[in-house]
Amino acid sequence: MKDIVDHYLESALALAEIRQGFCAPNPCVGAILVKNNKIIAKGYHQKWGSPHAEVDAINQIGASQVKGATLYVTLQPCCHTTKKTPPCTDLIIKSGIIKVVYSFQDPNPAVTNSTDKILRHAGIECIQHPLPAISKFYTSYAHWWKHKKPFTTAKLAMSLDGKIADKNGNPIRLTGDEAQKFTHQQRKKTDAILTTAKTIGSDDPLLNSRLDNEIVKKPIYILDTHLNLLTSSKIFNSAEHITIFHSADLAKEYQLKKQWPSARFIPIKTDKTGLNLLAVLEQIGSDGKIDLWIEAGGQLFQTFAQNGLLQKAFIYVAPLWLGENAQTAFTSPKPLKKGLPIVTTPLGIDTCFEFKWSEK
Ligand SMILES: NC(=O)c1ccc[n+]([C@@H]2O[C@H](COP(=O)([O-])OP(=O)(O)OC[C@H]3O[C@@H](n4cnc5c(N)ncnc54)[C@H](OP(=O)(O)O)[C@@H]3O)[C@@H](O)[C@H]2O)c1
Repeated sequence: MKDIVDHYLESALALAEIRQGFCAPNPCVGAILVKNNKIIAKGYHQKWGSPHAEVDAINQIGASQVKGATLYVTLQPCCHTTKKTPPCTDLIIKSGIIKVVYSFQDPNPAVTNSTDKILRHAGIECIQHPLPAISKFYTSYAHWWKHKKPFTTAKLAMSLDGKIADKNGNPIRLTGDEAQKFTHQQRKKTDAILTTAKTIGSDDPLLNSRLDNEIVKKPIYILDTHLNLLTSSKIFNSAEHITIFHSADLAKEYQLKKQWPSARFIPIKTDKTGLNLLAVLEQIGSDGKIDLWIEAGGQLFQTFAQNGLLQKAFIYVAPLWLGENAQTAFTSPKPLKKGLPIVTTPLGIDTCFEFKWSEK
């Protein structure tokens, strides 16, 4: 029989997953309260600035019910005051909870070494119960704290002969409905999307998440060295917010800035690959984006992979043969550093290969 603690923490994880892609720079957290072997309340963090999961769960029921309960929570509770929220430890202590079981230790140094001591000092039993699924869930959050950069995941669809567009670089629909749906699910779960002006110029994509009747906009980051992006691009209406990275050397009048005053323009130094991607990632990390989904062509994919800047990739292979004149995914004569294949999933007529790339 499954360990009951695992069961309660898995229930908390299911709650944490509800708002994946909407909480950054905060982590997504789920919490449940258990008393007399029964779940009496459930809570989760909705978005940055809203009550934390523990507070959400405690507030679901009356004070007398909470007294004597055990709190199961995916992440170590916080013990510090943020701009918007008080320490969860204060409410936990005040509410009469007798035991706290959390799964993942918060990499935030303000929390890591303090929470357990504060709770124990108040007479509350506090234990960590690691679970592989929850550690996996917080991989990107831990990465962001360690590197101050987002966890990067790139997607690239290609034909069986490794092509991504027709011979003139015009887009071709390569994958079927299942793969498209998977992409929309991933976009929804991410904190931001990175693309290029080149891909926008040829595909004019929306890069939002469209699932069933729900449309979710995301912050979009665009590499546009020479500010060539057309002001009529659909992305300006389909993004939650636009940031354009351009060359720091550019002496060009910002037509785009006049037309889209809400877009943010950030000059970036260039290197032999184009815009310096480390500087780009540092900016996105300091914006508080934990997960970054990269959706562009083969050139950007290759630069990320080659320079150890890619953590994960989904490569979809479609059962098509586009022929030698079509645009090849990877064009550099330098061999591409390999990722480690971890999961292969059929997506309708296509196959999705998930790769773990570098852990830098
Ligand atoms: N199959 C798929 O999954 C998929 C997805 C998206 C797009 N596409 C297709 O891919 C094609 C475009 O692919 P692509 O490989 O030619 O272009 P890409 O990867 O979308 O963009 C490359 C461009 O990004 C800019 N850039 C700036 N800094 C860079 C850096 N450090 N490293 C790499 N690029 C940098 C450069 O343009 P600037 O100098 O102008 O800034 C560069 O030419 C389009 O035809 C589109 O239809 C396919």
